[in-house]
Amino acid sequence: MARISSPSSYDCWLGYKFIDNNELRKVYSERCSSMVVIGKTELNETARKELMHALTQMLGEPPQSEILVQGLGIVIGTFGSSKLFDWLTSIYDFDELGEEGYVIHTSDDGKIYLSAATDQGVLYATFHFIRLLQTGDCIKKLKIREIPDNSLRMIDHWDNMDGSIERGYAGNSIFFRDMQFTGELDRIRDYARLLASVAINAVAINNVNVHSHESKLITEQFLPEVAKVASVFRSYGIRLYLSINFASPMELGGLDTADPLMPEVSSWWNDATKDIYRYIPDFGGFLVKADSEFRPGPFTYGRTHADGANMLADALQPFGGEVIWRCFVYNCMQDWRDRTTDRARAAYDHFMPLDGTFRDNVLLQIKNGPMDFQVREPASPLFGGLKRTNQLLELQITQEYTGQQRHLCYLVPQWKQVLDFDTYAQGEGSTVSKAASGTLSGRKRGGLAAVANIGNDANWTGHVLAQANWYGYARLAWNSSLSSEQIAQEWIRMTFGSEDELERVILEILLSSYEIYEQYTSPLGVGWMVEPGHHYGPNIDGYEYSKWGTYHYADCNGIGVDRSMQSGTGYTGQYHSPVSQIFETTEHCPDELLLFFHHVPYTHMLKSGKTVIQHIYDSHFSGADRAANMIVLWDSIENKIDRDRYQQVRERLIHQAEHALEWRDIVNTYFNRKSGISDDYGRHIY
Ligand code: GCU
Repeated sequence: MARISSPSSYDCWLGYKFIDNNELRKVYSERCSSMVVIGKTELNETARKELMHALTQMLGEPPQSEILVQGLGIVIGTFGSSKLFDWLTSIYDFDELGEEGYVIHTSDDGKIYLSAATDQGVLYATFHFIRLLQTGDCIKKLKIREIPDNSLRMIDHWDNMDGSIERGYAGNSIFFRDMQFTGELDRIRDYARLLASVAINAVAINNVNVHSHESKLITEQFLPEVAKVASVFRSYGIRLYLSINFASPMELGGLDTADPLMPEVSSWWNDATKDIYRYIPDFGGFLVKADSEFRPGPFTYGRTHADGANMLADALQPFGGEVIWRCFVYNCMQDWRDRTTDRARAAYDHFMPLDGTFRDNVLLQIKNGPMDFQVREPASPLFGGLKRTNQLLELQITQEYTGQQRHLCYLVPQWKQVLDFDTYAQGEGSTVSKAASGTLSGRKRGGLAAVANIGNDANWTGHVLAQANWYGYARLAWNSSLSSEQIAQEWIRMTFGSEDELERVILEILLSSYEIYEQYTSPLGVGWMVEPGHHYGPNIDGYEYSKWGTYHYADCNGIGVDRSMQSGTGYTGQYHSPVSQIFETTEHCPDELLLFFHHVPYTHMLKSGKTVIQHIYDSHFSGADRAANMIVLWDSIENKIDRDRYQQVRERLIHQAEHALEWRDIVNTYFNRKSGISDDYGRHIY
């Protein structure tokens, strides 16, 4: 019996380990002794190959047969493909499953059925079943029915054609190098299978900041290459999208305008779109950053974002494509002396007046938080605000502001807070999750998009444990009610195995890491305080006198941004009641967001019973201590992890602990000097 070598960090959560537990392996081997896939489609073939591979690795040998046999075995296929699945209709309503839902069911005679209304659903059922084996679940009485919470579950790459990745911390692009495609389709296939295993169904392969060379991705020069990548993704049920340059009709087409209401402009886009679909019949659509951070857009022509998005939507509509239009639009040329302009307000101010004016195949992609992916921000008020527009929640898996994958920061708890945030748009229970998915206002399109954290590093994510963020994002996009802990547990078992102590320790490290990172960086929701440009490491005043609208206003008396209606920028008024009232006053505002919403004296008493300044000191001392303790925890499971991954993580944890000290001392010293207030416990501040 062939023993399979131990998984490497390249395999991520699909490094199928040989199941050492003899009893369990025997049960699985019996139950999986045959597998038959009904129907020969591309996705079915993918499902077959994946299951075959997984079973062979985990059980040490392939299933004995691939034809339908009496007795135990796995039967895979769409519900309509064979009468074999008919009996399942008495148990499940297949209409309800929609395009992507599926069932996994063990019949009384012990056969396991993986079925769905579509091939896509069948593929997801297959990966789910593999996960059950990886995590050691009992498969004797399966009765699973899964329907995704979100129809769009997307990953956005900020990859440039020179191979660099904007805000990428794990090497270079897997798609591009030297202004060309890498042509490394095997690596892209490995990527696609990781994505499909967690049911990601859409990928944009190029940066939202579309430079001149990348603008040509939609032309004949590159479409044959784009099509090759699209076909790899297609074999895993993933649609490819491209970020486009709104000024393309001028830059590529030689027109003297990109005005969305000019017929020559829309006709240029219609032709360009037709070309794309000749190469990629299932092309997903365009992702657009317009009128934002110096990108061109409809404002140049006095047109609205709806004018721009709808023009593109009309070009895509006949082919079933969609426009994903980003709401990250704000004044990035602000004067720091101007206290009235508030970047947090900008998305809502720009897009609320346009609610209901977008075509049905437009989705607004709303960044969270309203400022920019800080470690702590409130949920964007556009969720719950927009009622008649398709929405997508945009998250950042790549850790631009959360340690750049040199620090560990398991972000699922942060995303859970956003998804669970109650907007009260239609009374209690109107969560961001429901707004983004479309269920709140009865819309079909909606979902989640997130900026990728992978590159061509051998372990994909730089930090091995950052793979948990990639995995976790996708799992939440499928099922937003999963807990941070459930997701981490699954991921640990699939990635490292099911040993109790190993699981307990990694779980503890992951689940505490977000809080720890927040403790030693910028306090109480105020954000920023990072080195300008690359955003790594502390610089308290780095952005204080800049044009970007990201200020903390610290002086010798206090700190924070007054965003109240009463005396500040009025941002709190963008939320529904009672949320707006809660954020409006220091009395009700939760501690962790206090400085996002209010400017308070350092002596202000928090609900925790500490003053703001003492909180700053305490959290920074504690955060740095806890960062150091992560190394101790990690070392305690040294003999339970392969050398390679143990070392990779350890090196990063050591750097993190050192860097946390830097953060601690710079932040504490800054506020000690500003406020002149000493630490209650007399700890060393410089
Ligand atoms: C952040 C990030 C930029 C990025 C921008 C965006 O500001 O620093 O690199 O282009 O977000 O989301 O468009």
